[in-house]
Amino acid sequence: MRLFIFLIVILILNSCNSDKKLKNDSENGVPERTELSQDSKIFLGNRLFSEKTCITCHAIDSKKTAPSVVDIMHVYKENNADIVSFLKGNSKPIVDTTASQVAIMQANIDGFLKEITDEELDAIATYMLHVDELNNK
Ligand code: HEC
Repeated sequence: MRLFIFLIVILILNSCNSDKKLKNDSENGVPERTELSQDSKIFLGNRLFSEKTCITCHAIDSKKTAPSVVDIMHVYKENNADIVSFLKGNSKPIVDTTASQVAIMQANIDGFLKEITDEELDAIATYMLHVDELNNK
């Protein structure tokens, strides 16, 4: 019986430890080789959205130079469209189709967005997809 309780305690301690490890990894925003959890993607995406300068043109919920993240996601969810595909230059803009505006974002796609890995683009898209939930918290 004692041994049994001892084993249970070890099991519980172990699961706490692995939780902590997961949290630390996501806090550091370190992209892992393995598939990231949803929360880690959102966390990393949030950081990249600032680091990669998206935030300078896109505010979260008010229009700056460019449409807000909330407005973009509204259109993307409605059309069941794929952000990553747009960011890789594989699909056409559907939010603001004014030529001058499209040209600004297209310059990013042809420029610095090429330096961003698929994993990072996926994290950015996941973050954008969940931005309204984050705002309501
Ligand atoms: C220099 C300003 C600027 C920066 C920096 C910028 N964007 Fe944009 N973005 C725009 C403008 C302007 C539009 C509106 C034109 C359009 O919709 O294509 C746009 C549109 C978009 C759209 C909607 C495309 C559509 O379907 O119409 C997405 C998604 C997007 N940007 C994501 C990003 C991400 C992610 C980053 C950072 C990696 C970023 N943008 C950085 C200016 C910018």
